[in-house]
Amino acid sequence: MPMNPSQWIDVVEDKFNYNLDHFVIPDHYQDDVKSILIPHGLIMDRIAKLAQIITSEYDNERITVCCVLKGGHQFFSDLINYMKKALNKQGKTLPMTLDFVRVKSYENDQSTGDVRISWTEKELKELKGKNLLLVEDIIDTGNTMKKLLATLEKYELKSLKVASLLLKKTPLSCGYVPDYVGFAVPDLFVVGYCLDYNDIFRDLDHICAISDVGKEKYSV
Ligand code: HPA
Ligand code: MG
Repeated sequence: MPMNPSQWIDVVEDKFNYNLDHFVIPDHYQDDVKSILIPHGLIMDRIAKLAQIITSEYDNERITVCCVLKGGHQFFSDLINYMKKALNKQGKTLPMTLDFVRVKSYENDQSTGDVRISWTEKELKELKGKNLLLVEDIIDTGNTMKKLLATLEKYELKSLKVASLLLKKTPLSCGYVPDYVGFAVPDLFVVGYCLDYNDIFRDLDHICAISDVGKEKYSV
């Protein structure tokens, strides 16, 4: 029976946040974020544990770990590093092929509804028989991931799992819950650790809630 997500996902409570003055925020973003939801160190600690869990759940058959660009890049990179460390510790071997797919669906803080996926038909066909682990930054409404999974459906993968660093608690959710989740976050537009608002804020280490000033300044 599938577990109730609240039993295994750490929830960042709606009212909880860290004081902006207590962590280093680059000067260029001082006015553009309103609170810190997850400091960088905490993100890293959680990824270390996710890496341990993920590596323990795969046999030693090659897996293709696929980064969903651009937002998933930082999580993907840190997750792979921690997976290698975890495998070393477990004395286990798990060959990994690294892959990348570009998916775009957001403009400002809204989903455009138009999900663009960069895989060509040839690349999709090459996934046949593979164990694919998709690595994503955030599941918000879940519509982007649903579209991606629907696209993959007919290509006869051997296995397909999804790891997302964040899962947003939003009433707009389509109900999709990934196999591995770092944190559940409040229904706010979040940036940092490679999550963006119109490609801005990827260079911020902590995961923060964007401020109205930031939204206005960087809107397109
Ligand atoms: N932040 C950044 N990117 C996103 C979000 C978010 O809250 N939701 C969907 N894509
Ligand atoms: Mg994005």
